[in-house]
Amino acid sequence: MKSKKEIREEIRQKLKRQGKKERDQRSGKIYRLLLGLPQFRDSTKPLIYLSLPEEVDTLPLIGWCLKEGKKVVVPAMPTTDQAFELRQITDLAKDTQIGGFGMLEPRLDQTKKVTPQEIDCAVLPALAFDRSGKRLGRGGGYFDKVLANIRKGVPRIGLAFEFQVMNDIPTDVHDQPIDHLISS
Ligand SMILES: Nc1ncnc2c1ncn2[C@@H]1O[C@H](COP(=O)(O)OP(=O)(O)O)[C@@H](O)[C@H]1O
Ligand SMILES: [Mg+2]
Repeated sequence: MKSKKEIREEIRQKLKRQGKKERDQRSGKIYRLLLGLPQFRDSTKPLIYLSLPEEVDTLPLIGWCLKEGKKVVVPAMPTTDQAFELRQITDLAKDTQIGGFGMLEPRLDQTKKVTPQEIDCAVLPALAFDRSGKRLGRGGGYFDKVLANIRKGVPRIGLAFEFQVMNDIPTDVHDQPIDHLISS
């Protein structure tokens, strides 16, 4: 089996090579599939990642959730602590800003802190998932730490482009699995 490092490098390249048009098309399909998933539709306070330019785009999804009256929770990059902080946003434009790594992040001055126990659905990115629900992130273990603290039974939904879905990926004991994978 390939190592985590090898898989990360391979997928980073593929993400970089994918054109915007293809990314937008696939993201649109994933968005529609996700809206058809009851575990997501029924959620009232979902955690949704703020997508990087190369990732499955979650911004239209977040916009839809806010319009539907869902309470949208997003991760904030840690400053000192080595874990994500969770924040509730009520407006995508007003409550977020471009952060240090070019990542969209919630504005800490005007968003409310949320505990992992409050969320009732988790929508997650990865560099790769395998078909059994294993998840490989970018190497910080940030989502592992969040998932270790959410309530039992809360649906964990991964979004990925097809080339991010592998037959098998290596995991360590701290790696948290997902239970639904949506890919295109
Ligand atoms: N629940 C946790 N508590 C403490 N450290 C953790 C936890 N989950 C992950 N880590 C740490 O995060 C680091 C990166 O984890 P890894 O799973 O390789 O990254 P990723 O999930 O981003 O692919 C590891 O060194 C691991 O020890
Ligand atoms: Mg991990």
